Amino acid sequence: MNVLVINGSPKGTNSITLQSMLYLEKILSEHDFSYLNIGPKLRMLEKDMAEAEAMIAESDLLVFSYPVYTFLVPYQMHRFIEILKESGVDTRNKWATQFSTSKHFYDITAHRFLKENMLDLGMKVLPGLSADMEDLLLEKGRKELLDWWKMTEFRIEESISETRDTPSNDTEIKPYSECIPKEEKSSEFRISIVTNADRNDIPLLNMIADFRNALCFESTVYNIREYPFSGGCLGCFSCAINGKCIHKDKFDDYLRSQIQNADSIVYAFRISNHFTHSSMKCYDDRQFCNGHRTVTSGRPTAYIVAGNLSSERNLQDLIEARASVGGNFLSGIATDENNTTPQSLKNTADSLCYALKNSIEEPKNFFGVGGSKIFRDLIFEMRGLMKADHRFYKAQGFYDDFPQKHRKKILMMKFIGLLLSMPGASKKKGLMTKGMLMPYQKVLDSANK
Ligand SMILES: Cc1cc2nc3c(=O)[nH]c(=O)nc-3n(C[C@H](O)[C@H](O)[C@H](O)COP(=O)(O)O)c2cc1C
Repeated sequence: MNVLVINGSPKGTNSITLQSMLYLEKILSEHDFSYLNIGPKLRMLEKDMAEAEAMIAESDLLVFSYPVYTFLVPYQMHRFIEILKESGVDTRNKWATQFSTSKHFYDITAHRFLKENMLDLGMKVLPGLSADMEDLLLEKGRKELLDWWKMTEFRIEESISETRDTPSNDTEIKPYSECIPKEEKSSEFRISIVTNADRNDIPLLNMIADFRNALCFESTVYNIREYPFSGGCLGCFSCAINGKCIHKDKFDDYLRSQIQNADSIVYAFRISNHFTHSSMKCYDDRQFCNGHRTVTSGRPTAYIVAGNLSSERNLQDLIEARASVGGNFLSGIATDENNTTPQSLKNTADSLCYALKNSIEEPKNFFGVGGSKIFRDLIFEMRGLMKADHRFYKAQGFYDDFPQKHRKKILMMKFIGLLLSMPGASKKKGLMTKGMLMPYQKVLDSANK
């Protein structure tokens, strides 16, 4: 079989992910592997897809190989998918699968995103493999890699491919034109609206204008599609040492001094290819200059989304997860679906203003707690390198919930366990549940009206 590995790591041939593909090539002598390294070739591919087209045409199986970057694929891979779709290169009925390495922080949203796009391209999609970045170093990891490959071969032989999780909903949405009167603005709080709206996308620009009209606080729009990025994040980790990005386009200063200086950041975009235009992905990945620090935690957020959000389950999860991991209260998502746009914009603006005035916060859900714990463990392990992250995590108390730190609680649990294992204890109904309620009872007892 001719296997084309589409390598989406910005590190090119230095990619950790790629090593697994090279490993497979070594042990699977019956297959011919070739490689398309997107990262270093992106600008060239934007101008000319001929080489990529020829490589795709010659292949029997495409393997999209990439590191997970900020909930999704890296900007470079995202941009390649955009170009591939625009180019009209024939990928119909081509077998395709995906392989990623990461720390499993939102590998699921990345895989679903790529799967949806592969299906859009008419490919016959096979389940991918999401490996930890160190799996290849372990015998177990190598076995899992081979098992996945065997399943891939089996599925091709038996013609077992995947289908779409969510049906594609192509409901026509009416272009939105402004209609909300402008409110009096207070400068008590400042809101940054980050968008990647195309200059010609008048309906989305109108939604942003009306959202601003409905806000009672001042806001500034940052159109990052027009920012002169010199490129996407390169994953070089230079910023882990001094917080400075290796790119010379001053984006890190701009991000910190302008956008992140506000009391709230609102995102406004049009859905495209199951997320939005890749300029937003470039913006997201480049925030890695702040490492894994949730620097806007405690500040509310909101989204303005143009397009069929209700048919994009993965994107809905992504929005909720980004807010929960970041510690940002999600005040609302305004959409232009169902012809209720003005109401949706006004409700979201009102909720955001209320959240700002009243310092509203909410507990993290599974998306937030799970994601935060992955980073907590990672930074603790890597604290010798990621010093700024470690200092931040310590100051924020992110390590306080390590079980070994709760000596009192552990002792208490041992004590309760001992009590419950005494003869006759199990017969006393509700002893356990009552015992568990004790600390809550304390709170209730001391609560004042
Ligand atoms: C900008 C950036 C964003 C990242 N985002 C994620 C993420 O969302 N989830 C995760 O588990 N790992 C994330 N990582 C870690 C990479 O996925 C991981 O290090 C990967 O193995 C690197 O593979 P590569 O060497 O092939 O590029 C990120 C790394 C960088 C540099």
